Amino acid sequence: MIGKGSGFGKVILFGEHFAVYGLPAIASAICDQTTATIETAERYELVDDRPATEGYKTKKKDEMKSSMKLLLDFMKIGVGKTPVKITLSGDLFCTSGIGASAAMATSVARAFSEYLGLGLDDDRINRISYEGEKGSAGTPSGIDNTCATFGGLLWFVKNLEGGENTIEHIRIREPIGIVLGNTGLSSVTSEVVADVRKAKEADPEKYKKLFEEYTTLVKDARHALENHDLERLGTLMDENHRLLQQMGVSCGEAEEIIRIAKQNGALGAKITGTGRGGYVITLTPGKGLQEKVAKAIESQGFRTLSTTIGL
Ligand code: MEV
Repeated sequence: MIGKGSGFGKVILFGEHFAVYGLPAIASAICDQTTATIETAERYELVDDRPATEGYKTKKKDEMKSSMKLLLDFMKIGVGKTPVKITLSGDLFCTSGIGASAAMATSVARAFSEYLGLGLDDDRINRISYEGEKGSAGTPSGIDNTCATFGGLLWFVKNLEGGENTIEHIRIREPIGIVLGNTGLSSVTSEVVADVRKAKEADPEKYKKLFEEYTTLVKDARHALENHDLERLGTLMDENHRLLQQMGVSCGEAEEIIRIAKQNGALGAKITGTGRGGYVITLTPGKGLQEKVAKAIESQGFRTLSTTIGL
């Protein structure tokens, strides 16, 4: 008996950290996915064959264990009673910021659904994946698991009362090229989210202003996307990054990648996801610009991933 499932990686265009507090965010799944395969075995075994940034798997070991436990408990699966071998693979290169933990949780939920013949629909898979996300993000907004499960370009608003989140597909004229620059550093989402929460509690006035500014910005960003106004979109990404800097979630390597990308013509650049490492997202419509920016970032020793948003 065998079960297979997959989950998309994602990039956040607007609203990492803000999303946790119920403010709208815009995120897109990317084509790269994590795949989980489940086979009957004599004892529980987890094989992690996912490609990853050096040090990522070690740094994320505890998170991953806790994620797996939360989602298995939620599905009421005891791997003692149902011994299986879970193999994780796929073309999603795991690093902070790309939604790798959510892609993993979604893929495992889907693989168990197939293995046990549960026939779970996407809403249910998303709910399970969200439980897994608690293991990595602490108090997740749910944006990563939503992208991992449904794919596409999404407008996401967490319902702070515990009801249904708002999930709207944003339609755009054509996919838009981006280059992701990898800082090479892994961060722990639950720690960074907790630090932002502490900072917000310590200075509520500052965060009130940041949240107001961001709320106007994200609405503009949606219009810019829908109207294919890429210059404006890029400017708004830069502004979003400035707000994230004030929240203390950038780092030297990310700033360096942003500087290189902007110098080489990227329309906008910001951290994406947790921050303090992970990826930087740069807006690079058109093959020529995408290649130029990727080459420039790589020439300074950083890895890149060139892809599109809004598939
Ligand atoms: C992580 O990809 C995004 C955060 O906003 C956490 C979350 O929304 O759950 C940092």
